[in-house]
Amino acid sequence: MSSTAETSASLADLEINIKKPGFFLRDDYFDILRRLRDEAPCYEAEDGVRLISRYEDIRWVGTDTEAFTSMAGTLVNDANVYAKASPPPRGSLLRRDPPEHSEYRNILNKRFTPRAVHQFHDRVRALICDILDAAPRDTEIDFIDHIAAEVPVAVLSELLGVGEGDRKDFRRWTDAMIERVDHPDDQVLEADRQELTAFLDDLVARRFDSPTDDLISMLTGVEICGHAMSPGELADLSRVLIVAGMETSRHLISGGVQALAAHPDQRARLAADSSLCVGAVEEIARWVTPVQAFARSAKHDLELAGEQVAAGDFLIMLYASGNRDERAFGPTAGEFDIARASTNRNVAFGYGQHVCLGQNLARMEVQTFFDELLVRYPRFEVSGPATYVPSTMVRGAETLPVVLEP
Ligand code: HEM
Repeated sequence: MSSTAETSASLADLEINIKKPGFFLRDDYFDILRRLRDEAPCYEAEDGVRLISRYEDIRWVGTDTEAFTSMAGTLVNDANVYAKASPPPRGSLLRRDPPEHSEYRNILNKRFTPRAVHQFHDRVRALICDILDAAPRDTEIDFIDHIAAEVPVAVLSELLGVGEGDRKDFRRWTDAMIERVDHPDDQVLEADRQELTAFLDDLVARRFDSPTDDLISMLTGVEICGHAMSPGELADLSRVLIVAGMETSRHLISGGVQALAAHPDQRARLAADSSLCVGAVEEIARWVTPVQAFARSAKHDLELAGEQVAAGDFLIMLYASGNRDERAFGPTAGEFDIARASTNRNVAFGYGQHVCLGQNLARMEVQTFFDELLVRYPRFEVSGPATYVPSTMVRGAETLPVVLEP
């Protein structure tokens, strides 16, 4: 009997159904992750689907593009994985391998270096200040509606050159894109997708006609894989950027607010010393891990964490587990500590070939956010329980009652 078979009897009792939206919200979620790391780090959850839970293994699967591919799908409920059909959608970065993927990244990375992002810093700060100053204080508000959802909408709209009047639908559209992964036949979500597509097709066409200084304009006419990027490809790429950057940043902000409210001593320390903010946001990213999982497929038979993996097996990297792995973060991995020295090794933004394109922007945005929040409201309170939308990709609050107190 293999080690997985011996332990899976008891792990099987836990009904680990990763494809069921809401698995990440289970009360025993972090206990399950710990048990997976300790007992079955390459756990076969179903035939040909394995859960990779240890930090070093996640980094290997993310990095070794000779052994692992993204082409067969990367989302837990990626319809394409199970059908093993269709080429990557136009503009998709996520489902490409080198050398094509590297070509895309080489062009896009230039727009997202720390330096490129820094040029945008003052504008991001101004947007964040406007949002914080407009939110009602000393009364209970939904922090997501008033603030956490607004920040990425404003920042991404600015980046892509979306006008003020067009922003109101952005949250609905991008939320629908994430939800659609788990509910591909839902007609309302499909209608939202089509609205977003039509909006971006139109925006890109206008930028091809008369470019401005936004990111879309900069990418018009760019050569990729031997051809000039077409308006359709650029619209699809813009959609990837918007969807990838929206809920993720929102959940990092709201998760950080929840973590700091639950640890008032650390909130006070951060409010008193803004030089701690860079490290604090890394720890928030580690602790919250807004994106729970992405996947790769094995290109050939191989051994992983002592288990035999077959060519074609679908390997789901559990980022939140990697981020709580005691083997990487020591015996205090299960504690929140804004001054943790090792925290910037976290895998909240993935790792390797597909590491988050927007990570520098997200870090800058969220650091600026906590800087400004704590200057104004060092004693903000979470005043009631959060609600969550079940997903197989992200984990973060849908509503969160907060009182902003100076
Ligand atoms: C807190 C915020 C964010 C988190 C936690 C996050 C997380 C991630 C993760 C885990 C991946 C890896 C996917 C994989 O392994 O296949 C990823 C990829 C990606 N992210 Fe982010 N992200 C965030 C913000 C953003 C923003 C603001 C943007 C763009 C403006 C962005 C754009 C992308 C893109 C385009 C990819 C795909 C990269 C590729 O396949 O080469 N992300 N992100």
